[in-house]
Amino acid sequence: MKAIVIEEYGSADQLVERDLPTPEIKDDQVLVELYATSINPIDWKMRAGYLAQMLDYEFPIILGWDAAGIVKEVGSAVKNYQVGDRVFSRPETNPRGTYAEYIAIDENLLAPLPKGVSFEEAASVPLVGQTAWTALVELAKIKAGDKVLIHAGAGGVGSLAIQIAKHFGAAVASTASEDNEDYLKDLGVDVFIDYKKQDFEKELADYDIVFDTMGGDIQEKSFNVLKEGGILVSITGQPNQALAESKGIRTAYFFLEPDGARLAKLGELMESGAMKPTIGSQFPFSENGLREAHRLSETHHAKGKIVINIKTPSS
Ligand SMILES: NC(=O)c1ccc[n+]([C@@H]2O[C@H](COP(=O)([O-])OP(=O)(O)OC[C@H]3O[C@@H](n4cnc5c(N)ncnc54)[C@H](OP(=O)(O)O)[C@@H]3O)[C@@H](O)[C@H]2O)c1
Repeated sequence: MKAIVIEEYGSADQLVERDLPTPEIKDDQVLVELYATSINPIDWKMRAGYLAQMLDYEFPIILGWDAAGIVKEVGSAVKNYQVGDRVFSRPETNPRGTYAEYIAIDENLLAPLPKGVSFEEAASVPLVGQTAWTALVELAKIKAGDKVLIHAGAGGVGSLAIQIAKHFGAAVASTASEDNEDYLKDLGVDVFIDYKKQDFEKELADYDIVFDTMGGDIQEKSFNVLKEGGILVSITGQPNQALAESKGIRTAYFFLEPDGARLAKLGELMESGAMKPTIGSQFPFSENGLREAHRLSETHHAKGKIVINIKTPSS
């Protein structure tokens, strides 16, 4: 099968096309023919070698953490999927990720493709959608009327987090640059903060939840907008525990543990129209396509999701 791989860590130029064997499935896996995948910052962090200590993969590495496609083969212990089913997933990627024509995926990480949703839209959701859901629903226990600050609302995680928070009836503030003001308001944001001109710390107070997708100073300043008993959930690093205790603020930090049942809930939100991913840009499934896609993600200013078109549906 065709795959785009890295054979050593380095710049986007390390992404090269290779012909690799189609993966073999285990009893509890299905083989998925991929139609689309999408880019996440972890892709280029891994490519550059920043995660080499944490994620111990063997070269050649097929990167890519989002799958949308059609089941081609089913393991003997698989109960709920058949050949021909349209599925999406945030799969396990060691030993092989989604920059490929085929991938083996554990049944418990799959969800059915929502009705009326394209492969490209579906490929935009598994990693970022499950991350936003874990932060807001499972950890922060979001509820109607909560005041929620979502940092980087124009990004992959933030743009879905805003829609999830609005679905639960929260009042949402979010940060982005001025070019994204209309975009964020269309997603439902109640209070828009242009981070280049405004200091969110001075504009906001008494928040129930802050979702930190940025880290560093932004994470530290976020303590000042939370009320006592509020929660700071981060996906970038463990918040300052001494500060949290002194202010009576709860904290959480996690690295996503994917789950097909959770993804199916996001599928329901997509099917009902409550959540729609933004495909900010699309690139072809080629060496150059992947290199361009990585370069765009590395700017830190991609809008919504960057999608890679692997195969065009015949009907
Ligand atoms: N722990 C986990 O499991 C986990 C899971 C997913 C992601 N992550 C991490 O979470 C982070 C966000 O991921 P992502 O996929 O959302 O990234 P992304 O899509 O690349 O984010 C890009 C967005 O960030 C915005 N941005 C840049 N600088 C900003 C600033 N100073 N203030 C507010 N917004 C700013 C940009 O908006 P403008 O163009 O308007 O500036 C852009 O739309 C990454 O570091 C990623 O690795 C962790």
